[in-house]
Amino acid sequence: MNESAPPGLDRAPRATLVQLRSFEAVVRLGAVGRAALALNLAQPTVSTQIKELAAATGLALLQPQGRGLVATPQGERLAAAARTMFAAWQQFEDDIAELQGLKRGRLRLAAVTTTEYFLPDLLGPFARAHPGIQIELAVENRDAVVARLASGSDELAAMMLPPEHLPLHRWPFLSNPLVAVAALGHPLAGRKRLALAQLLDQPLLVREAGSGTRLALERLLAERQLHWPPRMALGSNEAIKHAVRAGLGLAVLSRHTLAADPARDGLAVLPVSGFPLRRMWHLVWRKDRALSLPARTLLADLRQQLQVRARPAV
Ligand code: PGA
Repeated sequence: MNESAPPGLDRAPRATLVQLRSFEAVVRLGAVGRAALALNLAQPTVSTQIKELAAATGLALLQPQGRGLVATPQGERLAAAARTMFAAWQQFEDDIAELQGLKRGRLRLAAVTTTEYFLPDLLGPFARAHPGIQIELAVENRDAVVARLASGSDELAAMMLPPEHLPLHRWPFLSNPLVAVAALGHPLAGRKRLALAQLLDQPLLVREAGSGTRLALERLLAERQLHWPPRMALGSNEAIKHAVRAGLGLAVLSRHTLAADPARDGLAVLPVSGFPLRRMWHLVWRKDRALSLPARTLLADLRQQLQVRARPAV
């Protein structure tokens, strides 16, 4: 603790804030009458405050000029000091308002299903720091998240493939490698290297229509002009993992949906050339809506967390 008083505090100012406010207005507006009008005070009240201020400081603060008043050089200094004090007070009030804004409220977020494996972790520090903010995280597939963004029901959304038709800020915040998986023990799982074309005669398991993971694979196949029609569509990453493990086919999934060691789940990542597909997750928010204070604070918090994670360990 630093017990010595900061400079100036041991000499309490003899002027009051009310006097200073009137004085600053007289200097700025050049006349007592105009200052009184601006401050919604009676003219004699302002005159008295100016006289008391001159007495308290022992300085000649104003001098007549034409039909009005101007500050003396000492008066200019005092007006400048008063403006600094009022600016500091204003800053204090703004800070308090900001803090109040984080005391209570609601923050609506949407995220694609693949982010559920890590997003709650990333939200942890913000949630702990702001217990009064109720967080609602909707977890849906890409098409549903796009629809929510279009209707404006959420402030922030996390997704791999942001839509082009909405005015969005995009922050690519984390990599989302997509990998091809097979059941552990699948004949292809033992290979050293595979071309994507070598997978095409295997049954393909995909997510439901509307999934971004499925869309990313479809785009890749279209780009490479490969034909790999889905054998089965399943409504979640977990269902796909179970089906792959049961030997029903192969799938392309986000690496984040798998355990650190996929073998523990009975799965193997296939060494397909060109894979993992390097994709990113984006945090997006609408350009045509102002973000709430909780949303801005969460963004700042995530930026900081990800910066710290990106820093090499020493
Ligand atoms: P989804 O997620 O497959 O659950 O739609 C895709 C994405 O990462 O954007």
